[in-house]
Amino acid sequence: MTRRTIIAGNWKMNTRAGEAAELAKGVAGAVGENPAVEVAVCPPAVYLSVVADVLAGSAVGLGAQNLYPAEDGAFTGEVNASMLRDVGCRYVILGHSERRALLGETDAEVSEKLSAALAGNLVPIVCVGETLDDREGGKTESVVETQLKGSLKGLDEARAAGVVIAYEPVWAIGTGKTASPEQAEEVHAFIRKLLGELFGSEVAEQIRIQYGGSVKPGNAKDLLGQPNIDGALVGGASLKVDDFVAIIQAGC
Ligand code: G3P
Repeated sequence: MTRRTIIAGNWKMNTRAGEAAELAKGVAGAVGENPAVEVAVCPPAVYLSVVADVLAGSAVGLGAQNLYPAEDGAFTGEVNASMLRDVGCRYVILGHSERRALLGETDAEVSEKLSAALAGNLVPIVCVGETLDDREGGKTESVVETQLKGSLKGLDEARAAGVVIAYEPVWAIGTGKTASPEQAEEVHAFIRKLLGELFGSEVAEQIRIQYGGSVKPGNAKDLLGQPNIDGALVGGASLKVDDFVAIIQAGC
């Protein structure tokens, strides 16, 4: 089974309008249509429209970093799936570890957001990953299993193939410490096994699993060369056009 590699840049809470436009312009200018690799950038919500204008007609997709799982109404400060589609988003990152840790986002909330994303025709990128304490305590698999099963709760087989999972070990995020390709592959293979239990092996083979955590031009090729690593969710390095483009090229 060939899965199309997916490289997404998570800009987190960075850039201003001008920088966001420049960054998007640089990426869009360097990336052409490639059947082997799908590329997306995920700017802060307030700059989605600015970036959408720059990306129009390019091979680079637009993603959001979160959504609120409700129809329009009295939800001050929130943005829903329909609004994200309206400004041109194709993807949405859900359950990032920073939201889980800083904002107390739970698996149940992620699963509600997942349903809303799918109902709104967005491709969800669902993040899971263990902390250093979890890993050192031998709990990597149980933590990832709980997060994955909780976050995907209620997801039916028919829609599962279109979901993207991002394995992001918390200890490797923004720390410069990357999981070795073998460490990452071990967890990715475990995730695929769990997906097989949940949705059957045929669907599990279609689901793309990205790795995230200090992905850089220098380590991307080895990580992306692993059989169960189907892409990267890139933080810091996605804020530099050259680095992000080099990571995309490593996936080609
Ligand atoms: O979502 C991407 C991420 O958390 C990894 O960030 O800066 O370690 O590439 P970074």
